[in-house]
Amino acid sequence: MTTVEFRTAGALEDAEKWTAHNYHPLPVVVASGEGAWVTDVDGRRYLDCLAGYSALNFGHRHPGLIAAAHAQLDRITLTSRAFVHDRFAEFCQGLAELCGKDLVLPMNTGAEAVETAIKVARKWGYRVKGVPDGQAEIIVAAGNFHGRTTTIVSFSTDPDAHADFGPYTPGFVVVPYGDPAALAAAITPNTVAVLLEPIQGEAGVLVPPAGYFGEVRELCTLQNVLLIADEIQSGLGRTGRTFAIEHENVTPDMYVLGKALGGGIVPVSAVAADRDVLGVLKPGEHGSTFGGNPLACAVGAEVVSLLRTGEFQERSAALGERLISGLEALIGEGVVAVRGRGLWAGVDIDPALMTGRQACERLAARGILAKDTHGSTIRLAPPLVITEADLDHALTEFAAVLAGN
Ligand SMILES: Cc1ncc(COP(=O)(O)O)c(C=O)c1O
Repeated sequence: MTTVEFRTAGALEDAEKWTAHNYHPLPVVVASGEGAWVTDVDGRRYLDCLAGYSALNFGHRHPGLIAAAHAQLDRITLTSRAFVHDRFAEFCQGLAELCGKDLVLPMNTGAEAVETAIKVARKWGYRVKGVPDGQAEIIVAAGNFHGRTTTIVSFSTDPDAHADFGPYTPGFVVVPYGDPAALAAAITPNTVAVLLEPIQGEAGVLVPPAGYFGEVRELCTLQNVLLIADEIQSGLGRTGRTFAIEHENVTPDMYVLGKALGGGIVPVSAVAADRDVLGVLKPGEHGSTFGGNPLACAVGAEVVSLLRTGEFQERSAALGERLISGLEALIGEGVVAVRGRGLWAGVDIDPALMTGRQACERLAARGILAKDTHGSTIRLAPPLVITEADLDHALTEFAAVLAGN
């Protein structure tokens, strides 16, 4: 082993020794990044085709985002919400307008934003819809992924996420994803919300049948139920539109956002809804020390400005077609199925050939970072700033791995 390789080995050993084993990372130790590329501690370069599970939609260290963060670091970074700071309204207005909603409530992580949406929906149910106290029900989909808090894992159908973490929070009803009849049958007078991912990311980039969200919207409107779209992974340009649910010509009552909202720099999440929904919260009922802090708002406001141009959505749509058609060309060559929208693909590989994990290890050895999910599915979600040439390079390397090279 050379001295150089020793750095990766040592860093992996230390991480293994000193941390809880809640992840099973690929053996790559990243030291720096720029655009769609990262460099490890031994100087090897990798094309990042995961992009922090869509948190890096604008790439590593996007110059505009870094400049916004630097400028804010030199002014003020944290005030708490006990006071108002001068970046708060700017960010919230920009995001509310991007969402076409009256109000925004900023938080930090995705799971916190989902928890916020759940609390708001329950309170709306009691105070606006008139559901008896403590009886509110929220309908979710099998295969969902909304985060890791005890309430959220209570309604996860993934045994790894769910088992051993009870007692579970009641008030959730699970129905199959993509089945409007099952959803209709599950709605009761106590249903306050339907919480869905417009595309299920962790489940393997599952795109629901065309028309599904239109029917969900109609049911929710008819039954006075809030439609909550968890766009944490699917939103902010990833699918070729600002929001994935736009592909269905549907407007939810509440958007839940995270990941790319922080520009890959700071954790920023938010819910956005109209006043009749988000206005149910009163002082003291919900909060977060770091939610909506000046640094987060400065970066978030710049993210909103980038999205306002439409440039990233267009790139994602155009390059996404190239990605999906490139992957579809590999069907029969080791690929069994391809799903996706924009620069986001779930690729099922032939389990007889190799596991998803093995494929990702072999891709990493060839300088491409991607992540497996559920056995033989690989998720590809490169930064939206990736070039055509780099995308083609990723496809070539993917084909080489499948061919056993
Ligand atoms: C759709 C969706 N919702 C919620 C979350 C949770 O976000 P966080 O990890 O920031 O809590 C994720 C994270 O992968 C997600 O993909």
